Amino acid sequence: QGAAKVLVASNRGPVSYEVQDDGSLRSKRGGGGVVSGLSAIGPDAGALWVCSALSDGDREAVRRGVGEEGVHMLPIPADVHADAYNGIANSVLWFVHHMLYQTPLEPVFDAEFRRQWASYETYNRAFAQELARQAAPGAAVLVQDYHLCLVPGMLRELRPDVRIGHFSHTPWAPAEYFALLPDDIRAQLIWGMLGADRLGFLTWRWAQAFMGCAAATDPVRISALWPSGAPKSIEHTPTGHPPVRTTWIGVHALGADAEFLRERSHRPDVEERMTALRAEIGTDPDGRARRTIVRVDRTELSKNIVRGLLSYRQLLDDHPEWRERVVHVAFAYPSRQDLAVYRDYTAEVQRVAEEINSGYGTATWTPVVLHVKDDFARSLAAYRLADVALVNPIRDGMNLVAKEVPVVSDEGCALVLSREAGAFEELREDAITVNPYDVIDTARALHEALSMRPEERAERSKRLSAAATALPPAQWFLDQLRALDGGAALDG
Ligand code: G6P
Repeated sequence: QGAAKVLVASNRGPVSYEVQDDGSLRSKRGGGGVVSGLSAIGPDAGALWVCSALSDGDREAVRRGVGEEGVHMLPIPADVHADAYNGIANSVLWFVHHMLYQTPLEPVFDAEFRRQWASYETYNRAFAQELARQAAPGAAVLVQDYHLCLVPGMLRELRPDVRIGHFSHTPWAPAEYFALLPDDIRAQLIWGMLGADRLGFLTWRWAQAFMGCAAATDPVRISALWPSGAPKSIEHTPTGHPPVRTTWIGVHALGADAEFLRERSHRPDVEERMTALRAEIGTDPDGRARRTIVRVDRTELSKNIVRGLLSYRQLLDDHPEWRERVVHVAFAYPSRQDLAVYRDYTAEVQRVAEEINSGYGTATWTPVVLHVKDDFARSLAAYRLADVALVNPIRDGMNLVAKEVPVVSDEGCALVLSREAGAFEELREDAITVNPYDVIDTARALHEALSMRPEERAERSKRLSAAATALPPAQWFLDQLRALDGGAALDG
């Protein structure tokens, strides 16, 4: 037993390290939804954040005893981590929940998959054991995401005294799709999750899907069905351990951090990048700044970047009046490059962008400005300049970009938003919504967004911004703790 009263566990932590040529370690902020959400808790809150040592630099930092206060990096062996993270979490669970498989060929659950699954168990067990070691009696433990689905069940066996929450930052697959997983693996995942006292999701839609998957798992009993009324709970009988236990389900729609974003986006480094971006965007034949359609994503299959580019090309075909007058500013930052399918996707994004530029560009106009090197200050610069934000994922747990651009944009932006993003539930009224597979429809939406009267755009953007910031990250985190009855632990 340890001393931490509040613990957070996630695969990716708030910081990672790189070994420099001179042997020194350079630290870098982590990225993605989990880190954005949880960074708000800060070291002052007294919470302990347990995460994986992801890179050689991270493992070296652990070896040298370098680290940040309140962050504990677990040095999982590199091969175990690679199987669990690349093999299971990112190639199977991410694909299942985002429904990314091309099912005539994939997935194939073979001996290789079983070997990787054993690593996923080992990796989850390493987390459970570390949390069990560090948690004070009665502590609150908040486990994050699909990398760590087995942790709640494992931790409960080790430490029945702690309160356990699990939060999913991704969609959850509908039961019929989840059913493509081998039966024993499905049951293990559901039972692992149901080891928690409380499960959190970003939207009702994903919570409901989880309930559907749990209901299909023997002998789980759903005691209240969505969406009618509280309590939202699942009763289940842990195998061999009657009586019935209850797991509560909650929805916490993580919002954007307005205060942080507004302050950060007015610093000199962002202003500098705005100047550079303005030069890249250029002016139209009347000498006015060109309109901008902005997207910022990890180069992630589920973000649908290629169809976004095809929609933009369709816009230029359907509405040639926009040629020379608009620029698509697309930032597609490297992600999961250990996986061939991500490397291929990255190449395809670049190929299509180049094809548009060579097919439509002129001596004075580059239709697509694509940047692939991660630069947070430049992302904020693009947010400030955005006339239109394009957020068209195939499926997305929430999508914070959709929530951030309206908060940051200088003149107010129009939002083209996929109905498959979690953010759709809150932003649908003031966004222009699209079917992400339909490039003609998305082109139409882009035209509508570009054509919106400035006053209407500003008003809608203001309402989008208000909805987007309803639950700022610090509050989002506290709400979960309170719901787990752990608020007192954090204060004390
Ligand atoms: C999503 C997941 C996070 C993950 C992030 C970045 O937002 O929900 O758990 O950290 O993507 O992906 P990566 O594989 O780079 O951690």
